[in-house]
Order: sequence, then structure tokens, then C-alpha cells
Amino acid sequence: MREVHRLEDLGAAGIRALVALAGRLRERPEPRALEGKVLALLFLNPSLRTQASFQAAMSRLGGGSFVIAPDRFIHKLEFDPAAVMDGETAENIAEAVPVLASYGDALGVRMFAAQRDLAEDLADERFELIRRLCGKPFLNMESAARHPCQSLADWRTLDDLGIPAAGGRFVLSWTNHPHPLPLAVASDTLRMAAMRGMEITVLRPEGYELPESVMAQAGQLASASGGSVRESDDPAEAMEGAHAVYAKSWASTRHYGDPEADLALRAGLSGWTVDGGWFAAAREDCRFLHCLPVRRGVVVTGAVLDGPRSAVVHQAENRMWTQMAALHRMLS
Ligand code: CP
Repeated sequence: MREVHRLEDLGAAGIRALVALAGRLRERPEPRALEGKVLALLFLNPSLRTQASFQAAMSRLGGGSFVIAPDRFIHKLEFDPAAVMDGETAENIAEAVPVLASYGDALGVRMFAAQRDLAEDLADERFELIRRLCGKPFLNMESAARHPCQSLADWRTLDDLGIPAAGGRFVLSWTNHPHPLPLAVASDTLRMAAMRGMEITVLRPEGYELPESVMAQAGQLASASGGSVRESDDPAEAMEGAHAVYAKSWASTRHYGDPEADLALRAGLSGWTVDGGWFAAAREDCRFLHCLPVRRGVVVTGAVLDGPRSAVVHQAENRMWTQMAALHRMLS
């Protein structure tokens, strides 16, 4: 295994093997499996869980890691290899990425969506350039279009919670948020649930439809795994019989790249905060998931987060176990 980037490249069987290995490493630690190995981590955007869980994962397997980020006094990066660098930028990623990769046995990179142009972000062009420059085993730690490490942890969490794959009713719900957020988590969550073979409802108000290409791919992945995908704009109807609701906010695809228009549209959507009432028609044991960080009282109420339905801390812990499994496969 050379990389964690596209869930569909890992395949459903490959992901099942990874989440099984994560469980094995949790039960039977291997503190010397990656002795002498180094993981290089390049964060071009903020992180709590991804950074801490990757560093903890390497330490628990006996390896080491280092983090490079713009707020750590690095030279200002230029992302266009063809640029004439006579302005503020002092170091081009054409050199920075292979240099960082040369210090490690694998490189993880986080680079969020620019959120200017939907097609550009869906193509993940800036991230693909970095990936090509790496030349070493590679980990996507969230790009414009994808967050596969989050999805591996979420798959493991659904297994841990006993939520069935076949016949499991999974609601991916848009929620209120003060800012238009990238599509990466929502897109990969949908792919993950589809590959797991679940009965998925994408719940979103008008204007927040996920991109057609993402929905079409999810439909194909679900068909191949015996699942299904449909859409709804009615929380009460969508939540009927649900085993799990995965809350996430994302930018309006109708107004992508136009934050003012997006904010005007969401001004009328303040009711899209998950609260106890959302679970009225769900299964009694319906669980609440979110990738974190989460805005209490906006995305979801504190009562839901602090209540027995919430699996958010479990999800975050599983980041470490599933990433340990991926690193074990890539480097041991
Ligand atoms: N879920 C997630 O990726 O969290 P961080 O942004 O804190 O890494």
C-alpha cells in the first residue's frame, strides 16, 4: 500500500482489512513495528485531531514524526511552480515537498479547498501537484475534495457501534454554520457509507445539494456494495428509522465561491441545528456522528453532544487506531 488518498482506490475489502488491523493494534500493541521510521507532516491549514493522532500513531508504533506548518516560521510558500518569485513568496513547493519527503519515509499533507471555483476544487488540482512531487508513500490529511483518514475512522466507529452495513440507515445531514465550509468531509463520508453498503439519505436544504459528480459516484459505489443513496430536504422524513446521523456543514454548491450569497441563503436556515427533536422518528438507539471540531449550539446542541447518542469522541480516537493501521501497512 503506497498511499491513503482516494477511498475508492483502497476498495471496500481493503478498508475492511484496515479497520480490522486497527482493532488488532488496539488489542495487541506493536510498539516496535515502525522503529526507525519517520513520518513527515505538512499542515497548510489548522488541525487538532489529525496532527495529534498521526504523531501519537507513529509514537505508538515506535517511529517518529515532525510537523511543518506556515505558523512555524517557515519561508512563505509559492504554490505555482511556474511563478516568477519576485514577490513575497520565498520557497516553491517544487523544492519544499521533495525536500520534506526526503527526510521521512512517508509524507502527509493537509491543504483545504481554495473555495473559489467548484470544478477546480473537485479536481483537487493543487493537491494533486503536491502528491506528484512527493515520490514517497503519501497520506491525504484533508484536501479540497477528500478526507479519507476521517472516513477510515468513521467506518471503524460504525463497526464498533454495531451499526449494520447492509440495511443500516445512514443520514448525512447538512447543518447550520456561520461560514461556508469545504465539501471534503461530506463527500468522503458519503463515499464511505456507500462503500459500506448502507441505505443513505443526504439531507440538505435547497441550494446545498452535493455536486452531481459526487452524488453519481456515491450511487455507483452504493450499488456495487448493495446499498442505496437518495436525497431529502425534510429532516423529519429523512430521520425515520435512522441508525446514525452524521452532521456536517458545507458550502452552497449553488453559490460556490460567493460567500456573501451563501450567507444570505443560510440566514434563513438557522433551524438546521441538530437537537433532541431530530431523533423523534429515528431508531431509539440512533447515534450522532461528527468529524469535529463542532460549533456547539449552532451545528448541534450541547445536550445531544453530551448525551448518550454522541459518538464524536469515539470517532476522534479511532483516527489514531485506523491511521496506525494505514502506517503499519505502508511502512512496516
Ligand atoms: N476531523 C479533523 O480532521 O479534525 P482536525 O481538523 O482537528 O484535524
